[in-house]
Amino acid sequence: MTKERIAVFDTTLRDGEQSPGFSMNLEEKVRMARQLEALGVDVIEAGFPISSEGDFAAVSAVAAECRTVTVAALCRTAEPDVRRAAAALKHAARPRIHTFVATSDLHLEYKLKKTRAEVLEMTRQAVTLARECVEEVEFSAEDATRSDIDYLCEVFATAIAAGATIINVPDTVGYTMPVEFSRLVRRVREQVVGDRNVTISVHCHDDLGLAVANSLAAIDAGARQVECTINGIGERAGNASLEEIAMALKVRADQLPFETAIRTEQLYPTSQLLSSLIACPVQPNKAIVGRNAFAHEAGIHQHGVLSNPLCYEIMTPESVGVPANNLVLGKHSGRHALAMRYEDLGYAMQPDEVDVVYARFTSLADRKKRIYDQDLIALLQAGTVVHEVLPAETATAGKGWVHAASGV
Ligand code: KIV
Ligand code: ZN
Repeated sequence: MTKERIAVFDTTLRDGEQSPGFSMNLEEKVRMARQLEALGVDVIEAGFPISSEGDFAAVSAVAAECRTVTVAALCRTAEPDVRRAAAALKHAARPRIHTFVATSDLHLEYKLKKTRAEVLEMTRQAVTLARECVEEVEFSAEDATRSDIDYLCEVFATAIAAGATIINVPDTVGYTMPVEFSRLVRRVREQVVGDRNVTISVHCHDDLGLAVANSLAAIDAGARQVECTINGIGERAGNASLEEIAMALKVRADQLPFETAIRTEQLYPTSQLLSSLIACPVQPNKAIVGRNAFAHEAGIHQHGVLSNPLCYEIMTPESVGVPANNLVLGKHSGRHALAMRYEDLGYAMQPDEVDVVYARFTSLADRKKRIYDQDLIALLQAGTVVHEVLPAETATAGKGWVHAASGV
């Protein structure tokens, strides 16, 4: 059976990066963009060019570097915004201008101080100008899920008439519920899109922890692009997590017969790269990429998994890029094995430094059954050990975890 394709629009470098404490410099953004391209995303939203010189430079650099994906630049509906986005995308192989304006009465009255008629006109002008600059224009109705539906449909119809071929329905404040969101997307599909060649996109925030569920409900209702981020980073509680959407579609293809171009074995390395670039560890119980996602601690689980992994595993660690690590490290392991593992993780140490860390390691191994890579990194940070971080290509940082004594 041929499956319909869902486009994955990654906004880690825009919505993700704009959340406090997660900023990346230009070099880091380009490195992340290269990895996103290797992961197989369809669109990289690289920034909001008018917001700063740094964002402009990052969008330009990603556009110059990533030739096989679409590179999107965000802008409001004001003319200078649109022109700045177009300028940043000048060298893109596949440029997309993503313009947005709020459509809820709340935002119109208190934020924009505009009437509904004015916002309609702003939409028409911005999309028209964007289409003069690039072939592909996406229009987003900010706060769509709290907007009057008839008005929302009118704005989308205006954007399409002006040349937008992707219309995005953001749940900006993470407020909607799956059944409700699915109804909204269906209504937009029936009332606005019809049989036109226009893609419905969704962009869900996670304030109620429903971003992924809402995105999947929207796909079921007709959305064919999902906007998401690695590790679910983003404004406030974050955006829908890319890895969770990709694996839900893969593992539950029986319920949702769609496919993405995501190379799922690149999910874990991508998650680890982002985590190291923004210096923010992934929550251990995070679905798909958390260090406990495939760990079976309870004896009864271990027994089941050893007899047949299907008892408790709905996907393999390898399928998301977590290779099984056969290296066994326990309190009887030697300094050499420990130093080798650190080298794999990207840390080179002098013999006297190994001695210091080894003492900490054995003391931890006395107290803790399993020692994960994250524990090893924490041991380095716990003290004053000076270590040299090896270049990325030498390291297999985070590719696996270390089991103390015997284990799963
Ligand atoms: O959350 C939101 O509404 C956005 C738009 C700019 C798409 O990020
Ligand atoms: Zn957002």
